[in-house]
Amino acid sequence: MSIPVLNLAARPLTILFATETGHAADLAEAAATLALSMGAAVRLRDLATYNTAKLAGERDILAITSTHGEGDPPESAIDFFDFLDESELDLHEVRFAVMALGDSGYDEFCGAGKRLDRRLAAMGAARLAPRRDVDVGEMKPAREWLATIVRRFVEDQGSPRGLAAGIEAGGLAHAAGEP
Ligand SMILES: Cc1cc2nc3c(=O)[nH]c(=O)nc-3n(C[C@H](O)[C@H](O)[C@H](O)COP(=O)(O)O)c2cc1C
Repeated sequence: MSIPVLNLAARPLTILFATETGHAADLAEAAATLALSMGAAVRLRDLATYNTAKLAGERDILAITSTHGEGDPPESAIDFFDFLDESELDLHEVRFAVMALGDSGYDEFCGAGKRLDRRLAAMGAARLAPRRDVDVGEMKPAREWLATIVRRFVEDQGSPRGLAAGIEAGGLAHAAGEP
């Protein structure tokens, strides 16, 4: 009989992305693959369909969003951004990092990522790393930054309070593959 080995002690890592032309999704997938290879419990979610009722139960969030229009989120994620602006959720138990994709040729460079980073912090979440703004053509350094951040999330399991919170949130339920 084979017994599945799951890391119950770990804080599950939720990787959220918002994209229009696929770059943020590609990066998010690469980050999820790396985290899985490290044995982490990972959930990969498109903000277009993310269930916001889950947000307060998250513990570690890595968010990757591009910017479109004139400093706006991708069309598919506008509802999520609006929800965040209006939400009074307390995210003090959450750690997060934001990668913002953009094009410095636009006035509002990485506007959506800046907005997301600002809002998560205002809701009480703790920044695991400063926001990383990525200009077009910077995909290689972007991947390197993501690898560093994924390692930090997975290897630094935080305080005992963080550990307890991770178990409460249901490490098993957050294992990769859960819808
Ligand atoms: C129509 C359009 C509008 C854009 N507007 C902005 C903008 O206002 N600010 C910015 O930093 N980047 C802007 N961008 C650049 C994208 O954010 C960038 O190309 C990004 O890598 C796209 O990622 P995605 O494929 O995940 O959507 C725009 C791109 C397009 C095509």
